[in-house]
This record gives sequence, C-alpha cells and structure tokens, in this order.
Amino acid sequence: MILAPSILSADFSKLGECVERTERAGAKWLHIDVMDGIFVPNISFGACVYKSVRNQSKLFFDVHLMITEPQRYIEEFVKAGADSVTVHVEATEKIAECIELIHSFGIKAGLALNPETDVEKIMPYVNDVDMILVMSVHPGYGGQKYIEDVNEKISFLREKLGNDFNIEVDGGVNSENIRKVCDLGANIIVAGSAVFNDDIEGSTRELIKIGNGGNI
Ligand code: DX5
Ligand code: ZN
Repeated sequence: MILAPSILSADFSKLGECVERTERAGAKWLHIDVMDGIFVPNISFGACVYKSVRNQSKLFFDVHLMITEPQRYIEEFVKAGADSVTVHVEATEKIAECIELIHSFGIKAGLALNPETDVEKIMPYVNDVDMILVMSVHPGYGGQKYIEDVNEKISFLREKLGNDFNIEVDGGVNSENIRKVCDLGANIIVAGSAVFNDDIEGSTRELIKIGNGGNI
C-alpha cells in the first residue's frame, strides 16, 4: 500500500514544512489536487504552488487534474515537476490524446472516474494508462464522507485488471476505513484531512501501518 497525502488539506502558509513532515514519517507519494472551478465547483491552485516544493522533496508527485479539457495544461504541470498526471474521463472527449501527451514527457498517466460514472467508460483505456483513480467522494473538497457505493467498482477493477495494476482511491479515507479500502483492492490511498491535521507525522505513520495490515 502506498499512502499519497493530499496537500489540499495542508496549511499553505507552511506547505514546505507540511510536506517534509509527511515525508519524514514514511510517505512516498504526494497527491496534488488541481481544481478549475468549472469541472468541479471549487478552485484550488495551479502548477506554481507545487513547483515551489519540488526542489526540497523526493516524493513522487501525483498530480490529479480536476479541470476541463486538461490537455491545455499538461505540459505546464509536467514542467512544474509532476511524476504522474491523472485526468478525468468526464473532463474531455480527448482521453487518448491526453494519455499520449502525458506519456510523451516520459512520466506516468492516470485516468480518474467520479463516483457516479460507469466503470465501463474507462475500460477502453485501461491498457494505455499506468493507474486508475477511483473517486470515493464527489470531487471538489477535502473532508467529505466516503461513498460506500464505490466499493463494488474497486473490487471489480482489481479482479479485472490483476494484481500488478495500480488502483488509487481518493476521498474520505481515514484510519477507520483504510484497511477495508485496501482489502477491496486499492493499493494507492489518498488521504488529505486524515494526514494534514495537528499530528502530521503520527497520522502518516498510523495510516501506513493500518493500511499495510498492522494494528496501532
Ligand atoms: C477531492 C480531492 C481529494 C481530497 C481528499 O476532490 O480529489 O484528493 O483532497 O481529501 P480527504 O482525504 O480529506 O477526503
Ligand atoms: Zn485527488
């Protein structure tokens, strides 16, 4: 299990310090939520925000684009230091072009789907991407409740795609439900509010431990 702390819930006035603390506690990935106020009702931040921490972190930068027609900005996000860029299947008709463009920069490509989106919509692309991101809340905000209806989607994808495929689950995961989400078949877990709280190191360690099957 890989934990991908989402900086959406971090204190942006201390972003570098927040990232360093989760990295020190064992996180290997950093989840970066970009929102445009059109594809989702909220606006978060652009490439310059994570570019500013790129030089001080060795984490794998997992950039989740919740923006419409993402092909317009992929190059900018790659240049700011993304190791992986994920686009939403609902965000454009040009999914194949997006995947090709992301790969042309030599980085990983992911494809995301919203809770209400039929899993069949992503199936034509699964062999071309490095990861599927299953949204377990309606995208736009951190701190929402996990939607249990997506459980079926996670198990279906694990069964269909085999053990080596990367399945990331994003939204509403905490120390109470992380083990269950991993058992369903997720191997990359995004957590925002469950990591960036008063005890970043402790929460990071706890989630990694429970996610990997240990007790606290
Ligand atoms: C929601 C974002 C998530 C979010 C997760 O639109 O994609 O990554 O930050 O936050 P929590 O873990 O608080 O649900
Ligand atoms: Zn996300």
